[in-house]
Amino acid sequence: MLGNWLNFWRVRKNKSDSDMVRELYKLLDTDRLPRHVAIIMDGNGRWATRRGLPRAMGHRAGVESLREIVRTCSSLGIQYLTVYAFSTENWKRPAEEVSILMDLLVEYLKNELHELNQNNVRIKAIGRIEELPQKAREELDSSAERTQTNKGLTLNLALNYGGRNEITEAVRKIALEVASGALKPEGIDEHVIDMHLYTSGIPDPDLLIRPSGELRISNFLLWQAAYAEFWYSPVLWPDFRKVHLLEAIVDYQRRQRRFGGLKPK
Ligand code: IPE
Ligand code: IPE
Ligand code: MG
Repeated sequence: MLGNWLNFWRVRKNKSDSDMVRELYKLLDTDRLPRHVAIIMDGNGRWATRRGLPRAMGHRAGVESLREIVRTCSSLGIQYLTVYAFSTENWKRPAEEVSILMDLLVEYLKNELHELNQNNVRIKAIGRIEELPQKAREELDSSAERTQTNKGLTLNLALNYGGRNEITEAVRKIALEVASGALKPEGIDEHVIDMHLYTSGIPDPDLLIRPSGELRISNFLLWQAAYAEFWYSPVLWPDFRKVHLLEAIVDYQRRQRRFGGLKPK
């Protein structure tokens, strides 16, 4: 089994992406898809710099990847896709880059709304949305509202998101409930914490993908990713395509998830 698998990847070099997509679809078990896929959309700046282009062009190219990955997740029947688009630490970047990222977000939502609705995709934003520029907030609110009854893929856009901040906020809300007498300290369990996170009601990510070759979590879904399967790839986000997503899912399906026990689940 493992021999075949390694051999399969060895011959990949001689195949086109569309050949690979066909092969991967054959290997895919549609009954065992990850329910929730999370992606750190990283590598836009390097993609542009390597081409002698301004970083903004990398962000723009990254939107194309997002479009293709949302389409693919949606057509596969994946229930949740969470994409890390802007972290609580990304404010450290030059104001001009931040502003370009916010404009791209607004543009993406405007351009995609029709197709997202056609594909039954529901949009949700997670993070400190209240601190985003007004235009971005308004567009997010309106997209969430106009897709709220869609029952297909839920697309969570992590914006001004930080895992530590999310946990801190949850602790603060829980502390207020304890102070008001609505909750007893002994009533605080993992479920209560889950319910106070942005992702309340959403299953934990099964598969966490980070392109661009970085091997770190960068403050993404710290609580929720406790048992996520990681997939790292050297491919930069603007080059990340359906074929890479399928590779990640097929690989995920070949792993044994034990959750600390002895038997795979
Ligand atoms: C990811 O690409 C986009 C955001 C973090 C907003 P980067 O801009 O981090 O690209 P690199 O890592 O510099 O290549
Ligand atoms: C993580 O990428 C955040 C997003 C992709 C939105 P960064 O580029 O900000 O992460 P670091 O700084 O390399 O850890
Ligand atoms: Mg980066």
